[in-house]
Amino acid sequence: MQDKLQALREEALTKINEADDLKALEAVRVGYLGKKGPITEVLRGMGKLSAEERPVVGELANTVRAAITEALEAKKQVFEEEALNEQLKAEAIDVTLPGRPVTLGGPHLLTSIVTEIEDLFIGMGFEVKEGPEVETDYYNFEALNLPKDHPARDMQDSFYVTEELLMRTHTSPVQARTMGEYKGNKPVKMICPGKVYRRDTDDATHSHQFTQVEGLYVDKNVRMSDLKGVLNQFAKQFFGEEREIRLRPSFFPFTEPSVEMDISCKVCHGKGCSVCKQTGWIEILGGGMVHPDVLKMAGYDPEIYSGFAFGMGPERIAMLKYGVDDIRHFYTNDQRFLAQYHQA
Ligand code: DAH
Repeated sequence: MQDKLQALREEALTKINEADDLKALEAVRVGYLGKKGPITEVLRGMGKLSAEERPVVGELANTVRAAITEALEAKKQVFEEEALNEQLKAEAIDVTLPGRPVTLGGPHLLTSIVTEIEDLFIGMGFEVKEGPEVETDYYNFEALNLPKDHPARDMQDSFYVTEELLMRTHTSPVQARTMGEYKGNKPVKMICPGKVYRRDTDDATHSHQFTQVEGLYVDKNVRMSDLKGVLNQFAKQFFGEEREIRLRPSFFPFTEPSVEMDISCKVCHGKGCSVCKQTGWIEILGGGMVHPDVLKMAGYDPEIYSGFAFGMGPERIAMLKYGVDDIRHFYTNDQRFLAQYHQA
């Protein structure tokens, strides 16, 4: 009996040793220690043993059972540890791995340019105004000295919504609106940035929708030299101290006299190159002294008040400042273009 127990122990321990997973181990446990296992059988048969043999065999059976249980437990722990290690390995987070960079958005180049222009004019005491994009014929044309059938309306091909409503062709109607709001007895010093629309075919320099910034200063004794001073300040602050400006005579129905402003070419500094088409100058904006009829229509007495106005295109300004060669880049939302101008 004792030999049998010793043999069982050896056998069980070998099997435990050989078990290569928890399932195999459980099979060994059931096989040796289970209700129908050989050790239980020995213990059950104890009654048949003699009084001297009984305690000896009993004790041995218990030791064998304890040894097998212990070996089972030890091996089980090994498997559990292995499983845990596997799991930890599988779920491990490599904290040394560099994180994926988060791409930050930024303002659109046009937004940045308009904000820059706004800041500059706010610094010179101008307020920022807005007006509707669907405008009446009256404000878009008539109040600006462009009566119905005036040939100068041809300068701005328009999208009409009805006979009397159109997509504004410029931001100049906001001049008339603001003067109207100020009722002819207060100075006006405003700029108005916004979208404008023209029936143009899109190409590298034309777009059916683009942006303008309008400027207007009406007060007593406003002179042409004030216009020149403000525009000179704008040009130098925006494009660089070394840039010169010049005013050329031009025509706009709402200003008299009218001018166009050029800045000296930054590439050749006035000598002439392909960027400035050999002229040394680049056209930036239009402006002039507000026509007396425009003042009158808005309720300002031209004998008391005078003013200057100007209008510029931020796309054109951005194109010159950053060397953008196609106006369509502003509207087609190609991140490769836009992201170049995001400031960190
Ligand atoms: N409204 C003009 C245009 O769209 C630009 C302009 C020219 C505005 C002269 C002005 C101005 O205020 O005085 O072509």
